[in-house]
Amino acid sequence: VQELTDDYEEVEYSSSVQEKADVDAILQKPWTFNKSAAEEARKEMFSYFNPYKIITMTSDDATVGQLQRFYHSKAIPMVDVPPGISRLLPKKQLFRNTRYETCALVGNGGILLNSSCGESIDEKDFVIRCNFAEMEGFSADVGTKTDVLTFNPSILNRKFSKLKSSAMRTKFLKRIQSYGKYVLWVPVFTPHFLPIDVRTVLTFYEKNSNYLKDVQLAFPGNVLPEILDFWMSKGVDEERISTGLLMYIIASTICDKIHLYGFYPFPEYNNKPIPYHYEDPVNKSMTTSEFNSNFRRFHRLPDEFVYLKKMHSAGVLQLNIGTCE
Ligand code: CTP
Repeated sequence: VQELTDDYEEVEYSSSVQEKADVDAILQKPWTFNKSAAEEARKEMFSYFNPYKIITMTSDDATVGQLQRFYHSKAIPMVDVPPGISRLLPKKQLFRNTRYETCALVGNGGILLNSSCGESIDEKDFVIRCNFAEMEGFSADVGTKTDVLTFNPSILNRKFSKLKSSAMRTKFLKRIQSYGKYVLWVPVFTPHFLPIDVRTVLTFYEKNSNYLKDVQLAFPGNVLPEILDFWMSKGVDEERISTGLLMYIIASTICDKIHLYGFYPFPEYNNKPIPYHYEDPVNKSMTTSEFNSNFRRFHRLPDEFVYLKKMHSAGVLQLNIGTCE
């Protein structure tokens, strides 16, 4: 498996993309749901791929040693299925016959800070969060409810010292349990996170399965090329589709009305600087290019935002920006 280097080019955004961060126009009008536009958007998306495959593989799909293609850099598309994976996978497709009227999809953008959106998020029927979102100390802004949570194994490195000490293992277990009963969505076929991190997560889960009965693991399946094709057709051409957009696909699969929070990849709002993540310190003033390059080199979140803004105006989804009071 080829490793990625740390070299990257700063992504430049044209001034027109930066202007598109101007959300006043969309906030002025009250948002109304457009059922037929939402159905149309969903139908088009699902003409590219089977959406259930992104929710999870099932134990029938996981043959050890079989090459899987999953989302990552276009240059590194194939990886092995880690051993032991099929034991942890659900036997049946998740959410096959379930539909929720309202869903909150919570990104981790700094726009959520001081938003008071927690109540609005928690009152939705189903809540999706990304990347082991930090909630302690932020509940007024981000809420407390979680039904699906993504977990990128590289978080073990950054926040849990690779689970090397028993103190870290206890901390990690407590944190996984703290979200309640939910689906933990782990992108296992992403080689740059190192198979070793994936294996550490799987081993940890197996060893502690008695304490993790409320946590259902899910590993997305083999639909990368089709997903990239779909987003490309929407003007989003990225090295790697963001976790938030992947979760938007899941939300589109099981929800009627999708409400987005924390999706705002711009360095300021209402002339005030905001951090990239709501848990980060506030940044000094930055351009959109600096803001996105410094933090996320694989994505073009401002391009994703252009699409989301368009969908908001069409009544397909609701983008919540600013405060929820
Ligand atoms: N997001 C956003 N604006 C930000 C930060 C995040 O729109 N300022 C959205 C993106 O869709 C992102 C998701 O919220 O994927 C989850 O946020 P985060 O955990 O910050 O994701 P990243 O680490 O940036 O990236 P990745 O998508 O690779 O997980």
